[in-house]
Amino acid sequence: MGDMTTILFLVGSARPDSLNARLSRVVESHLPEGVSATHFDIFSLPFYVQGGPDEATPAPVEEFRTVLREADGVFITTPEYNYSLPGVVKNAIDWASRPMAPRHAFVGKPMNAAVATISGTNGIRSLVDLKRLWAACGGAPVTTFDFVLQQAPDQFVVDDEGRETLAEPARATMHFAIANLLRSIELDAGRTVAANWDAFIANLG
Ligand SMILES: Cc1cc2nc3c(=O)[nH]c(=O)nc-3n(C[C@H](O)[C@H](O)[C@H](O)COP(=O)(O)O)c2cc1C
Repeated sequence: MGDMTTILFLVGSARPDSLNARLSRVVESHLPEGVSATHFDIFSLPFYVQGGPDEATPAPVEEFRTVLREADGVFITTPEYNYSLPGVVKNAIDWASRPMAPRHAFVGKPMNAAVATISGTNGIRSLVDLKRLWAACGGAPVTTFDFVLQQAPDQFVVDDEGRETLAEPARATMHFAIANLLRSIELDAGRTVAANWDAFIANLG
């Protein structure tokens, strides 16, 4: 990790008025000093095909793996579609998880996430599934505090400085989400997971 901590922001919706894209921008604008943001458009990734038609890795996939490796942590905002992750987010995880050896692009990588939904009751399943998959594949998701922005269209407000932010208590949850991700990076929360990954790969022979 260099002097500047870098967070990669990924968004699971390409809808022009996406609430999740809006939330991603709000989270980014609340990063503390010394933390910078990078972005990657996961909608530029083709559908995953094992091996690929001609074994060549598509250029957006190479780029995605590189920005993922270079980031100190990842923040994903995504809708819940039909009680789980949108396919585009799963597709991005599948691309990032290969090749497995020696370490794929997010082994030990701290990640936190948020789900913005129009619903007043749903959203948590997308968040839980995302963090479950991230952990299962050897990443290091933050599991303290669930950041689900329900009734999202009503949650965006403007603060005294004219900056878009969230109404309370969602604003406090957002600050916890950011702080927990940065703490996970600072304390190298993925170290044990990465060591276990190395042992797993060694055992594959
Ligand atoms: C195919 C589809 C399935 C959906 N399923 C859910 C769901 O299971 N839970 C939920 O909270 N919202 C669901 N929604 C509503 C989304 O919360 C809503 O469309 C939201 O605005 C999508 O995020 P976006 O604004 O970032 O595009 C669904 C929407 C679509 C299009």
